[in-house]
Amino acid sequence: MEVRPSKEEIDRFISLATKQGLLRDSDNSAVFYSTQHLMSCVQSCRSAFGEGALHTIAVKALPFLRLLRRFSAIGYGAEVASHGELEIALAAGFVPQNIVFDSPAKTRFELEYALSLGCHINADNFDELERIDAILASRSDIAAPSIGLRVNPQVGAGAIQSTSVAGEYSKFGVPLKEQGDRIVKAYARYDWLDSIHFHIGSQGCSIDMLVDGAAEVDKLMQKINAGRTTPIRNIDMGGGLPASYNFGDNLASFDAYASALFSRLPHWQERTGGQRLITEFGRHIVANAAWAVSNIEYVKPSNGLHTVICHLGADMFLRKCYRPDDWHHEISVYNQESQDFVAQGKNVIKVAGPLCFAGDIIGEIRLAEIPSDQDRLIIHDVGGYTVSMWSRYNSRYMPVIFEYDTSNNTVSIVKQAEIAQDLIAFWS
Ligand SMILES: Cc1ncc(COP(=O)(O)O)c(C=O)c1O
Repeated sequence: MEVRPSKEEIDRFISLATKQGLLRDSDNSAVFYSTQHLMSCVQSCRSAFGEGALHTIAVKALPFLRLLRRFSAIGYGAEVASHGELEIALAAGFVPQNIVFDSPAKTRFELEYALSLGCHINADNFDELERIDAILASRSDIAAPSIGLRVNPQVGAGAIQSTSVAGEYSKFGVPLKEQGDRIVKAYARYDWLDSIHFHIGSQGCSIDMLVDGAAEVDKLMQKINAGRTTPIRNIDMGGGLPASYNFGDNLASFDAYASALFSRLPHWQERTGGQRLITEFGRHIVANAAWAVSNIEYVKPSNGLHTVICHLGADMFLRKCYRPDDWHHEISVYNQESQDFVAQGKNVIKVAGPLCFAGDIIGEIRLAEIPSDQDRLIIHDVGGYTVSMWSRYNSRYMPVIFEYDTSNNTVSIVKQAEIAQDLIAFWS
């Protein structure tokens, strides 16, 4: 499939939403998710890793209930990293057995709550294992818990330091090189500890790195299993398959990941011992499934270039604005008159957001024509870690979120645009 929705598709669904009165004059920006795109990524993930795996969608990447319901409806799982995300997953219809609870800061209350529901839990450290042990000792009604320990296989950092979690140091998990023996002992001590978890990073990690991490964990599992009567049952390999953010890039695919993984570790594919794979992909499923549109409010010439002021900035693109060298979104200018994208050219255009912050710049593009306030911007690949990271700085309204279906040409609202009462409630 195409990496991202086409120009024709974007055009068609802006027109449809406008015609149906869903995209109103008062909406200065909006986000559109392609349901087809989401669901075909899910299909690719399932077919690449084979039957019997528990695939979960990382709620931190996509917390919209209406979209999450599409995942729960087809028996998909949810990876959650806070009590709030757990409640969102339950409200979106995920059965607790298909919910994986990760977080380095789980409280005793949260652990007991998730265990009593029957969620799968990945402990982040040895102290958390002790807490779980105490809870299980006091709660005979929690009969068959499903619990793993997060291990940092220490295979190095990827291209983006702040989203790499398998370097020599990481705030997550137990470092394998330093504490391998202690990990093996923990598995020998806690017979309820039936799973293992690792996650290498999010964006910037090559397939080779992901597979290296898996291979380290595999070696560890052999040592663990040698000291136990029941071998490890669940292998949770986290997420981290990158998405493409540059036109022309098609960095990775589920098939490429699965084939590299299974050729290095064929027994992870065969799973003759009855082991189950768990995945927690977010970005690769959601990032390319959405695009945003914003009105251009002003165009200001200065310093040999033009600055376009639009309505989405560091409130939605935190990573791009705070770490501009690490992140990128392609931006097209959509000419309302010709209903076409303005061609590439010599004019330098800085695209700035609406916030009171000099770093509120979401990109720089070069165009044949200088845009006007009659044009709109299309910001590509905004489906993950954008709206879910929405910042309240300057108290701007989160825009309307749509989903559309290319198979029957329909568009509908996932979440209404915020209004003053929403903000007043938030700050009250
Ligand atoms: C533990 C864990 N699992 C899964 C994910 C999802 O990663 P990605 O969206 O890159 O697939 C993350 C993201 O940071 C994570 O921390």
